[in-house]
Amino acid sequence: MKKALILINAYARLKSSLNQSVRLQEEFEKLGVKADIKKNNIDTAMIIKGAPVSFIKDYDFVVYLDKDKYVSALLEKAGMRVFNRHDAIRVCDDKMNTHIRLSGHGINMPDTIPGLLCYNKEAPITEAMERIELIEDQLGYPCIVKESYGSLGQHVYCANNREELLELMEQVKCKAHLFQKMIVGSKGRDVRVIVIGGKVVCSMLRVSDTDFRSNIELGGIGQPFDLPQSFKEIAEKVAEVLSLDYCGIDILFGENAEPIVCEVNSNAFFGAIESVSGINVAATYAKYIYDTIYNKK
Ligand SMILES: Nc1ncnc2c1ncn2[C@@H]1O[C@H](COP(=O)(O)OP(=O)(O)O)[C@@H](O)[C@H]1O
Ligand SMILES: [Mg+2]
Repeated sequence: MKKALILINAYARLKSSLNQSVRLQEEFEKLGVKADIKKNNIDTAMIIKGAPVSFIKDYDFVVYLDKDKYVSALLEKAGMRVFNRHDAIRVCDDKMNTHIRLSGHGINMPDTIPGLLCYNKEAPITEAMERIELIEDQLGYPCIVKESYGSLGQHVYCANNREELLELMEQVKCKAHLFQKMIVGSKGRDVRVIVIGGKVVCSMLRVSDTDFRSNIELGGIGQPFDLPQSFKEIAEKVAEVLSLDYCGIDILFGENAEPIVCEVNSNAFFGAIESVSGINVAATYAKYIYDTIYNKK
């Protein structure tokens, strides 16, 4: 019997997140794979007597709909094939690390400066004056301040002047963060592209009239979009460089509508993009995984 384990976050409550696992389970069922959905709060992976142990050996693979990097690492160490792979999840989880990994591959991205590491909440922000001047010189205003770990647009901010920049820097000082050139022509507008097994599967335009962030969760509206070849090529390149089985890539519009990669989600929700594009993302992902595991050439 073909068996799969779908792991979701231990605290998962969001409907879009729970729905994701059920949709995949249904599609695996059609392919003759029995998929169990479990919360990632069980002892799927642990280290006992210095060695990785996993009780899930009777599963053929794990679809990992979580970002817990410790369990994904332990699952792989115990010999399990995890979709996405641990390294890809780890790199995508941290926006600065994603940026570093993608750099040097001819992929257009907004100019980005890492935030300084601060251990002390009491340290005055003026200690970072050289960095502030560098940001103003290289990025200008408005500029984007982003926490390295975050999703759904929740930890992405915009500074219009030095006062706002200092306030935001104070706010994120002790967290991993970065500064980015704001792609002004793309304000409230970007493209979400789903790539599975190295190929673009579908895309949508996301537009917000109320926010510079176009996330659906913040009121952005998904619309059908005819993906230009340049966007397709850059999306597939990103997935290849990061060795992602599955991802959702956010792409901004440059001055001449050229694609600029904003960020990569290893765990992108597919509910909205399925209804906008009419493409069955869950079926495509399940089939890709099935072929990878059971139809090895
Ligand atoms: N450099 C930028 N220039 C213009 N808009 C941006 C930039 N970075 C992010 N955004 C907007 O903010 C949204 C959220 O940023 P993103 O990096 O995708 O973080 P999240 O993981 O929270 O979705 C993007 O979809 C985009 O609309
Ligand atoms: Mg995003």
